[in-house]
Amino acid sequence: MTVQSQKDLIGLMKIGQIVGKILQEMLAAVEPGITTGELDAMGAAMLKQYGARSAPIVTYNFPGATCISINDEAAHGIPGGRVIQPGDLVNIDVSAELNGYYADTGASIPVPPVSPLVQKLCDCAQHALTKGIDAARSGRRMYRIGQAMESEVKRCGFKSIKDLPGHGVGRKLHEPPSVPGFYKRSAKERLTDGLVITIEPFVSVSAQHIVQDEDGWTLVTTDGSLAVQYEHTVVITKDKPILLTKVD
Ligand code: CO
Ligand code: CO
Repeated sequence: MTVQSQKDLIGLMKIGQIVGKILQEMLAAVEPGITTGELDAMGAAMLKQYGARSAPIVTYNFPGATCISINDEAAHGIPGGRVIQPGDLVNIDVSAELNGYYADTGASIPVPPVSPLVQKLCDCAQHALTKGIDAARSGRRMYRIGQAMESEVKRCGFKSIKDLPGHGVGRKLHEPPSVPGFYKRSAKERLTDGLVITIEPFVSVSAQHIVQDEDGWTLVTTDGSLAVQYEHTVVITKDKPILLTKVD
């Protein structure tokens, strides 16, 4: 969607802060011994407390309030009985709706002991997100976002996963336009003032693609390599974007 009024901006900020806070609380609870189902239950309880609805449930009838993906799972992992182990790499993605507005955020967190490779992967993807956000300005072409992110990922010696783009968001969870997380030259449309999109680099040690697991939801890297993702919902402006899902 494109922000048309102060009411739109306030509505988006409200749900943006809610998903941002829920993500932070869930990340803080990640530790060996907790199950992904228990983490998800925390998220579901917080959504209810805020009067918000899980976007994956509302939109796709997803079997969980949030998506929790571990190690080689890049996205859409189903919360359940899986027990978090020392050394796991956990991604949590929270998206929700309140008063007709949607926001979407995600982050990966390594469980100690953290290998140097995993630390580098997480640092790299966070830097890529920052570069992607900094590249997003009205008047610029869409591909500038992915170009900035992929160049950072290449500099680290990792790979941008190409099948999982960012997206328009706001009135629905997934709206046009697609926001490629790598340099896609055909993404030539210009960013416009007030456009609401997610910026979400998916970075892997060596895979550029994902496949769907037998469970019908979970997306895993084709070569089994580790993957991380960091995501914010932003509003495009002439200057730095407004970060709706960033919590201080
Ligand atoms: Co997301
Ligand atoms: Co998203």
